[in-house]
Parts: sequence; C-alpha cells; structure tokens
Amino acid sequence: MPRDPRFDILFEPVQIGPVTAPNRFYQVPHCTGIGYNRPQTLASLRATKAEGGWGTVCTEYCSIHASSDDDPFPSATLWDDEDIRSHALMVEQVHEHGSLAGVELWHGGAASANHYSRESPIGVFSRPAGVWDPVQTRRMDKQDIREYKRWHREAAKRAQQAGFDIVYVYACHWYLLRQFLLPANQRSDEYGGSLENRVRLVRELIEETKEAVGDTCAVAVRFSASDGGTDDAQTTEEPRAQLEMLAELPDLWDITVNDYTWEMGTSRFVPEAGLEKAMKWVKNVTTKPVVSVGRFTSPETMLRLVREGTIDLVGAARPSIADPFLPNKIAEGRDDEIRECIGCNICYSGDQTGTPIRCTQNPTMSEEWRKGWHPERIEPKRSESRILIVGSGPAGLEAAVALGKRGYDVTLTEARNELGGRVALESALPGLASYARVRDWRLTMLDKLDNVVVYPGSTVDEEQVFEFAPDHVVIATGAKWRQEGTGRWLEDPVPGWDRDTVLTADDILAGTVPEGPVVLYDDDHYYLGGVIAEKLRQLGIAVTLVTPANEVSTWTTHTDEQHRIQARVLEAGVRLSTGTTLAAIGEGVVSLECVYTGSTREVEAGGVVMVTSRKPNDSLFHALDGRTSVARIGDCYAPGTIATSVYSGHQYARELDGGTVADVRFLRERATAP
Ligand SMILES: Cc1cc2nc3c(=O)[nH]c(=O)nc-3n(C[C@H](O)[C@H](O)[C@H](O)COP(=O)(O)O)c2cc1C
Ligand code: SF4
Repeated sequence: MPRDPRFDILFEPVQIGPVTAPNRFYQVPHCTGIGYNRPQTLASLRATKAEGGWGTVCTEYCSIHASSDDDPFPSATLWDDEDIRSHALMVEQVHEHGSLAGVELWHGGAASANHYSRESPIGVFSRPAGVWDPVQTRRMDKQDIREYKRWHREAAKRAQQAGFDIVYVYACHWYLLRQFLLPANQRSDEYGGSLENRVRLVRELIEETKEAVGDTCAVAVRFSASDGGTDDAQTTEEPRAQLEMLAELPDLWDITVNDYTWEMGTSRFVPEAGLEKAMKWVKNVTTKPVVSVGRFTSPETMLRLVREGTIDLVGAARPSIADPFLPNKIAEGRDDEIRECIGCNICYSGDQTGTPIRCTQNPTMSEEWRKGWHPERIEPKRSESRILIVGSGPAGLEAAVALGKRGYDVTLTEARNELGGRVALESALPGLASYARVRDWRLTMLDKLDNVVVYPGSTVDEEQVFEFAPDHVVIATGAKWRQEGTGRWLEDPVPGWDRDTVLTADDILAGTVPEGPVVLYDDDHYYLGGVIAEKLRQLGIAVTLVTPANEVSTWTTHTDEQHRIQARVLEAGVRLSTGTTLAAIGEGVVSLECVYTGSTREVEAGGVVMVTSRKPNDSLFHALDGRTSVARIGDCYAPGTIATSVYSGHQYARELDGGTVADVRFLRERATAP
C-alpha cells in the first residue's frame, strides 16, 4: 500500500550540522545489556534498526575512561584504540542501510562505582557513589577536570575514526556533567556556584568536541528540559536558563527530562508523549534541530509533534526495540502492522541484570546475530505439516503468527470466548490496558494469514486431538496460580490454605470479589501482586500486602518502576507488611511471621489472595506425550513473564522441522586466550 501522504513530512531529511539524517526517525541512545563484550551481537541489533528505516541509530552510553565503569551493567567503551574496531563494525553495518550512526560519550561520575576497573569514582565533590555502594567519589581538582576533558576529546577522535556521524556530549540523567549543572554544585572554583560556572564544563566540552570532530561529525547534547518528576511537577526555569546559554553551540539537542522513571516511565504511569509538556519550550530557545522521546508508536502523534514544531526528529528507544521496522511500515502504508511497545520495560531489565536485551513484543531483539532471527523475515516451511495449537495466550498467538508466516497450515483453539489468555485478563487491571497490544498485534497479523484458522470457545481433549490428527500438537494452555501459598519462601502449604476464603490471582482476574479486609500474600515479586492490591482498593476493600521481600513488587526495580509502584499502593491506602510471611490462616484471621525473627502476630482477614507461584496447565500434554508429536510452550512449559512466553512460542515456530536442536542454541562471542 502507498503511504498516506500526510506522513511524507516524517521522511524528509534533516540537516544536523555537517551531516544529514535521511529521515526524522531517530533511535536515541539506549543500552542493550550487550555492551563492549559482544560487538557482533550489538552491530547486528543496530543494523537491523537501520534496515527497518531508522534514519539515525545511536549506541548506548559509551564510557570514555576506566574511571567511568558501570559493571555489572554492560556499557559500550571507547577507552583506547582497541575499542575502535568494535564500534566500526556497528557503524559500517548501519551505514550500509544509509543511516547515520551516533555515539553517546559518557562519564558516570558519582553514578559509577567502578567495580571492574577499581579506579576511584570522581565527582563534583566527595559524595556517595554507585548504587548503595559503600564508597564515595574523590572531588575533582583542576587537573582532574583537564584530564576529563582530554579523555572526552580522545574518545571523540576515536569515535570519528570508527566512522560515527554524531558524537554526543551527555549532559543529563544522573551522570557527571549533569552533576556539574545542578545547584548542589557549590564548588568555589569557576566550575561551581553561579549558573554560568555550572554550565562552563558543558560549554567547554561542546566546543572541544566540535574542535576535535566537528568538520565531519555533528555534535549533539543530551539535556534535561525539566527537573520535575511527574507531568504536574515540571520545573523548567533553571534548565531553560542553562539551555539559553548554550542554545546555538551544538548541532542537535536531544531532550529528555531529569526523572528517568518519567522519561522512560512504564505505561502504567506515563502516557505516550509524556514529556511533551516539559520540553515544548525548547524549540523557542534554539534554531538547532531538536529530538525528543515519548514512547511514540502512533504515527499521528509523531506527525502532530513535528507539524506543531515541538520536535524535528522523532526520538525512540522502546518503539524501535518493539518494532525495528516501524519507520518502513509507515513508509509502506502498513501502519496497522506496527508492533507497538506495551511500555512494560522488560527491555530495561536486560541491562539491569547484566544480560542481553529482551522485549515482550519483539522476541527477535538481540537474537539477530546469535540466532540469526530477523524481526520481519522467517524461513519458509520445510514440510506440509498441519499444526494444532491449543491455547491463545501470548505463546500460542506468537507461535501461530510465526508458523503462519512460515506457511504452515495452523489451527489455533482457545477454550475461552476471548483470545489472548493472560494478557486479555491482565490488561483489564488498573494501568495495564496497553498489555492488550500483545494480543492485538498478533490478531491483526493472523487476520492476514489465510493458512491459520482460529477457533475461540473450543475446548480440546485428547480424543479430539486424535480425531483431528495434526502432524504436531503444541500445548499453550498457560498456568494457574497456586492457592497453597507455596513459592520462594514457603515450601509447604500454609495451614488453612484450603479455606473457601482463600483465593488466587486467577480468581481476581476472573472477577471474584473477596471478602474484606484482605491479606494479599505476594511471593511473586513482579507487578501482579501490587496491581491486584491497587484494584482491590479501587473496589473499596481494605488490603494488607504481605511479602517476604523488603518492598512491594521488588523485581520491578529492574523495570525502573518499583518506586512508583510503592508510592501508588501506599497512596491507595494499602497497608504493607514487608519482610513477612504467612504462618497460618484461620477463621477471619491470618497469622503473620517475621522472616527475620520468626515472631508472629495476627491480623483480621475476611479473605486471602495468593500471588506466589504457578502450576503449568499441562495435563493435555501428559495425556498425549509419547503418543504423538507434542510440545509445550509458554507458561504451560515453564511459567514466566509475558516476554518469556512470546519468546517460547517464537522459538518453537523457528525450530520446527529444523532437525536436532544443539545444546547451546545460539552463537557465542567470547574472549579467546592470547
Ligand atoms: C533499555 C533502555 C536502555 C536505555 N539506555 C540509555 C542509555 O544508555 N543512555 C541514555 O541516554 N538513555 C538511555 N535510555 C533512555 C532512552 O534513551 C529514552 O530516553 C527513553 O527510553 C524514553 O524514550 P522511549 O519512550 O522512546 O523509550 C534507555 C532506555 C531504555 C528503554
Ligand atoms: S520490552 Fe516492553 S517496554 Fe521494552 S520495548 Fe518491548 S514492549 Fe516496549
């Protein structure tokens, strides 16, 4: 289909200093958990985005010196000339698709504890460094500042040698340059105190970076337009005064806000274009092109912001992760095929856990090189096999789409009338509406595949399977939350677990309203316990959330939303009992036990809701196993996140008819002995 001419403006080239972006689609710097150790994995990931139409593709934060080492969080590095080749690999592959390549030069200052390099962290003044690390920074003296500027210049030159088109001065988030900009910088020398002094280092770096690379590379500055933490609390006065002082110096302004949990907020807390209010003023202050972000997945929103003159380039991290081919889909009039980011931040959890990036919507993310998976292309079928998939949750739907694209004859059945499994149910919970995109994108794609037939409202048993006689059966029937309270902490069922008043997350998802007050026992630690507590409060039910962890939904620190979740449940009036487990459930009462001291106390409880662990719904699999070709995928195989289910369905589809699966299913990059 031809593209809607209204969107032509998104495909106009944009001049950025000495270079020209071929269109307005700009992948802003985002880390990948891949870092300097796996250059081929990283180059393929970035190149795939260029292939998908992103006119500019940037690296993640790229350390300029060993005094800025973020291990165990994997970053890129340009510490010495040895690093150039890895970057050149990425740049060459990005250039092959006609896109620009950008590099975000970075020094963490007090944010880097330097676990690997063991250099002392440096900073504006001596203050605690890293994340809860018991070390402090060394106050930078004049010589340190001179050295820092030299490292930056040398890294910029190496970036130029690697072939980059855009070199960043990274002056936001909680890193070194931002620390210089803050009012807390009350150094008595010319780099602290007054506004002009606090801006001095950024100014000098822009000038020196331009001097080092400016004839061939553009110099971009990443900058916070606001100090606020929510849409209603944006304070732009000081950032505006600072930007005014530097307005015409760089070739490009890359604008974010100070609070990462707002800038990169999950959809539960921040809507699309959530930064608009905070950064709208920037274009009034500079004539240079401006890029900004906002989980843009709607071409209409992109169009509006460009037309209104709020941004020149459509910045994206997550939308480019969820759909590396988003620009091409708009270009080809296939907007309906955009695989929209759901705003879950599973992608961020890769970096936070020191592992390659993953995405709920896009199972091919970071598998481009090591598994040869492409987000748009898949190998055609190798046989005429007919496949029956039982269950239409994230795994079943993904398997149906991927097998359908391969050309297999697929039948997908679902016991419920509604398709989507857990995402259909969970997306009805407060703040999780966009999770339905996992289902919706796949249904859109299934609509286009004549070789996939879908039967909602159809239970399938053993006999029916044999009657239907497919060549392969795929069981994707999900999992059930346990009622017994067993999980990480409790290995044996809690006494009283089988009372009628004890419910599970599944009961709440099915619409059961428990008798209050409720004790919600969360030993799962991801989002569901916290969201259910919020929902019960919306129903006016008193809730005590009990968890052996020390905070609500503790795993969500990896998705950068734990603080917001804790604030939300507290504001909703949920009582918290952290570091606590269940000792027994009685009539109208629950006995709680401190996980540290073993001391117990009783709380009133009309009902108990268990969110602890799940049991796979695998009885059909076991009934068929050994009698026909049958496999399990998703939660039915091993309960996990929505992302693991999608991945599992995709993997099944990729591997079907592929012969024996190797013990290690992917290529590895590794340092070899000298
Ligand atoms: C997985 C992930 C890693 C990120 N890493 C970086 C980074 O290395 N440097 C940086 O300046 N911003 C980083 N960000 C922030 C993004 O550049 C971007 O500003 C933010 O995600 C909002 O844009 P989006 O809504 O398009 O995702 C990261 C974001 C994500 C999701
Ligand atoms: S993991 Fe979630 S937030 Fe990240 S890009 Fe994918 S869908 Fe979006």
